Amino acid sequence: MTQLLSQLSIGIARWSLLPPITDPNFFGVSCTKRLEPSAIFLSALFMNLLTKKISKIRASLPWLAVTGISAAAAVAATKLVRGSRPTLDLRGKVALITGGSRGLGFALAQELGEQGCRLALCARNAAELEEACGRLRKKSIEATPFTCDISDKSDAETLINRVLDELGAIDILINNAGHITVGPLEAFDHSDFERAMNVMFWGPLNLTFAVLPHMKSRRRGHIVNITSVGGRVSIPHLLPYSCAKFALVGFSTGLSTELRSQGIHVLTAVPGLMRTGSYLNAEFKGDARNEFAWFALLGNLPGFSVATRYAARCIRTALIQQKRVCTISIPAKILIAKEALTPEIMRATLQFVNRAILPSYNGSSRTFTGKHLSPSFSGLFKGLTHLGKLAAREFNE
Ligand SMILES: NC(=O)c1ccc[n+]([C@@H]2O[C@H](COP(=O)([O-])OP(=O)(O)OC[C@H]3O[C@@H](n4cnc5c(N)ncnc54)[C@H](OP(=O)(O)O)[C@@H]3O)[C@@H](O)[C@H]2O)c1
Repeated sequence: MTQLLSQLSIGIARWSLLPPITDPNFFGVSCTKRLEPSAIFLSALFMNLLTKKISKIRASLPWLAVTGISAAAAVAATKLVRGSRPTLDLRGKVALITGGSRGLGFALAQELGEQGCRLALCARNAAELEEACGRLRKKSIEATPFTCDISDKSDAETLINRVLDELGAIDILINNAGHITVGPLEAFDHSDFERAMNVMFWGPLNLTFAVLPHMKSRRRGHIVNITSVGGRVSIPHLLPYSCAKFALVGFSTGLSTELRSQGIHVLTAVPGLMRTGSYLNAEFKGDARNEFAWFALLGNLPGFSVATRYAARCIRTALIQQKRVCTISIPAKILIAKEALTPEIMRATLQFVNRAILPSYNGSSRTFTGKHLSPSFSGLFKGLTHLGKLAAREFNE
């Protein structure tokens, strides 16, 4: 009985730590109900049924009661922590979004702009940035372009000073800029890891350090780090990306606990695959054509990936509610839960995927972009990636 109770407590604790399942985009079916309370109670009940014969349920009624009370207490504690946070009014707030010229960054710009934020968008390509700001201005959203390479420390510091000079404040910093290269370990060298870390770890870190004195002096501010499911589960053929995102998850998680008492809120957004159209701007190494094929298919099929506007809305809502973690998409939640609960099985599964499904290294050291590889596909592939093409048009890719 003691063992059963301890199992139940662990089960309840794990359930209550998992983010709620609120993904209306999974298979396009609406399932926005919070499943936490019922899931916790049902899982506890299920465990009880498994360990006891049905005929003995009567005898176990006191344990069912204990289970129910523990579950209710866990839910109440979760709600209490979540409910104690004030909501953020976005009107008039200045938001700096790195990588705002396209993809998720551009979708976030629309979401926050529609709520009254004044936007500073940053990217390296000045023409794309100008186009993005132009599209936002047509919707009466205030958007100022700032050309900057965030992987350069002094460029990043200059960016913060320029935004402060021109817009007067930075209320929200969204570290979103990213870059992905797909390929097997053999196709990567030191420079691939360095580049990934520079854009997706050192960039956010340098921008955070540069903006913190301003936020600390006002005793308020919000930092949103766009990480990835690849920063919680290391997916094969994405090693440099995963390393950078794991580092960013660690940084973001630690920041949120250290800065809270100084009035600064940090949100770690953990998206699964999104249909941003960025598979066309991603880079592919090794057997590039086949690497592109699996990546483009997974990244654009509903069920595996979610719509970008949906992901942006989840992040906007989590920001307003001052949440500290926001995991987006059911596949991402399942992967993260499996990694946490059954790491050995997860390793074996990914090892199988790596060996049996992903392309083997073909000795090539050339790199191709998705835009370069995409025209060599036709027919069924085009049909299956159609949603990605539409997203690419909508989000400036
Ligand atoms: N798409 C997905 O399925 C997915 C899933 C999980 C997480 N994420 C994360 O979500 C974020 C956005 O992804 P996305 O799909 O929207 O990517 P994207 O469409 O390729 O956009 C990337 C943005 O980052 C900018 N950028 C790249 N390197 C930069 C640098 N050194 N300095 C300044 N800006 C830079 C790009 O502009 P320039 O090239 O002009 O600089 C562009 O605006 C990334 O952090 C990504 O890792 C994406």
